[in-house]
Amino acid sequence: MKVFTTARQVAGHYEKCGCEAPGFVPTMGALHEGHLSLVRSAIKKCPMVAVSIFVNPTQFNDPEDLKKYPRTPEEDLSMLSGVMRNDDFVFMPPPEEIYPGTDTRTFDFGTLDKVMEGLHRPGHFNGVAQVVSRLFDLIKPSSAYFGQKDFQQLTIIRNLARRNYPGIMIVACPIKRELDGLAMSSRNRRLLPEHREKGGEIFKTLKNVARMARKKEIDELKTYVNKRISTIPGFRLEYFEIADDVSLTPLKRKSEMADDRNYYACIALFAGNIRLIDNIRISLR
Ligand code: PAJ
Repeated sequence: MKVFTTARQVAGHYEKCGCEAPGFVPTMGALHEGHLSLVRSAIKKCPMVAVSIFVNPTQFNDPEDLKKYPRTPEEDLSMLSGVMRNDDFVFMPPPEEIYPGTDTRTFDFGTLDKVMEGLHRPGHFNGVAQVVSRLFDLIKPSSAYFGQKDFQQLTIIRNLARRNYPGIMIVACPIKRELDGLAMSSRNRRLLPEHREKGGEIFKTLKNVARMARKKEIDELKTYVNKRISTIPGFRLEYFEIADDVSLTPLKRKSEMADDRNYYACIALFAGNIRLIDNIRISLR
């Protein structure tokens, strides 16, 4: 495994080993098994794999959140060295390598970034698009791996790739969970013990929603989730929506459903002051 900090080193590496374009896994570090599952999927399919570690300032709408975002570069490198091969590499650029000047680009995603995460984190997806497009330009991958955990991000990246990077195949990977069902996240390590202990309730709630969905209307499911989350001390629901993975339009009634779409129940909540998201695929009929 190699470690590079500049695009010039990456280009030198490509020249030296004469390999095909790599499979690419972008991350913000503080790696866990969820990230590693993406890396393993890429390794299975691609002769060369690149992983980036970069905490992207432009996607944080809250400066406190950026400051507190966990940074564990030594542990990250040691985890990656256990799975990556000789010509695979980690790209850990300093901010000026990604943003030599202020990035003023704005991306038009129509309504995709106006709902759910986009509604509650203004500017977040524009920042994600800025960094991912920069990384695509520098790494020049043939495929890129993203987790289903960030459901809305995946749809937005697919949209970005279709329009601006048609040569890059976007690969979706399933959500990795802790034993109690809590979706793995870099933020989990900041949970208070009493909140972590209740973390499994989120997935339990989503599984119940999936079970109830055939019989209940959307507003009944919303009421159920609201009630259940509000009974957990220290937990506060931010949103619960059911949307398809192409339009992301939150459903109001089941009669709005299209037969040819896949629907997901998506949740965002605060456990103390830590914001968590999760989702589950559901069939409503
Ligand atoms: P980060 O939160 O570090 O996540 C990196 C990738 O790992 C994302 O594609 C995310 O969906 C995936 N991932 C995180 N937790 C997962 C889990 N429990 N199971 C499966 N996959 C999981 O997402 C970002 O970083 C950033 O927005 C980024 C795309 C790197 C741009 O800065």
